Amino acid sequence: MLPGDGIGPEVIAESVKLLDAIAAQTDLEFNYTEALAGGAAIDKAGDPMPQKTLELCKSSDAVLLAAVGGPKWDDLTGAMRPESGLLKIRKELGVFANLRPVSVSPSLAESSPLRPSEVIGIDLLTVRELTGGIYFGQPVGNDGNEAFNTMRYSVGEIERVSRVAFDKARKRRNKVTSVDKANVLEVSRLWRDTVKRLHATEFPDVELGHMYIDNAAMQMVIRPRQFDVILTENLFGDILSDVSATLGGSLGLLPSASIGGRVGLFEPVHGSAPDIAGQGKANPTAMILSAAMMLEELGEAHAAAAVRHGVASAMGGNSRTGDLWHEGYRRVSTSEMGALIREETLNHLHPKGLKQEPAITGV
Ligand code: IPM
Ligand code: MN
Repeated sequence: MLPGDGIGPEVIAESVKLLDAIAAQTDLEFNYTEALAGGAAIDKAGDPMPQKTLELCKSSDAVLLAAVGGPKWDDLTGAMRPESGLLKIRKELGVFANLRPVSVSPSLAESSPLRPSEVIGIDLLTVRELTGGIYFGQPVGNDGNEAFNTMRYSVGEIERVSRVAFDKARKRRNKVTSVDKANVLEVSRLWRDTVKRLHATEFPDVELGHMYIDNAAMQMVIRPRQFDVILTENLFGDILSDVSATLGGSLGLLPSASIGGRVGLFEPVHGSAPDIAGQGKANPTAMILSAAMMLEELGEAHAAAAVRHGVASAMGGNSRTGDLWHEGYRRVSTSEMGALIREETLNHLHPKGLKQEPAITGV
């Protein structure tokens, strides 16, 4: 568990309370160890991602990370930035596929900046490549007069993240939209050729389309329901997933899972929100749904579904944290929202032991 900075500790606490409540009702058991990351780690250990934290993460089954960064560390540069710590742990864990799902229920549609009629029923998943591209490409340089970064992908890197996208699509609405800038970039041409070839050889049953990033950004705002799975490279995925996050009205709802290595990394899409840190105002939903994605990836689909249903039921009520609050609703704190989600989740969970009962087999 890496609580990190700002609202991180507050929202991760709600995930832990929820997991503990689930453990009390099932045969699941969770063992947590906390470690330093981000600004908190810079202050205490002089490194945004200390070796000790990395080793602990690598020896765990999963990592829950809340958020890193804040104004206090904004003037730091290079490897000392909290964000560098984040990039480092992604790279070290080898989590090359970042899953960012967005769905909009009728009860949330009115919080969207788009017309409710256009957003009800949105159910999309961005699969963002996470350990390559311009975030990591060498060489990089800045001599004060000229600066450059390198966007670089190999066929192998493109294939492995594409497989994740196609696999996920098969369990959803069976449609992948690959997003690139193949009309301009060499890297994107390799990206598109590779996705096409992989599709033809391994996933011909999945519907595949291609879109340029500029058009995709526009399509996401004017006709978001057309998307099922969006497959894209690191920087495009960073931008596009923030756009997708606004569709449901709040960044405070969006979870993510970064997978592909032995140990998965589960973190909300939102940041550390220093302006509201420590005030009990943050929405714990994104962190809680990230824990649900963790349960899913660990093979606990039943518990994961209970959490998702719990969140949906809680959202169906009239309590809202500040990010989603408006006239007619009750404004609740981080821990009140956490408690509501917990209560609803337990309602959706089967009682202790049930999971263990043998399936009824035919005579
Ligand atoms: C995200 C964030 C990070 C990214 C930053 C904080 C390094 O924006 O997870 O989307 O760009 O990947
Ligand atoms: Mn981002």
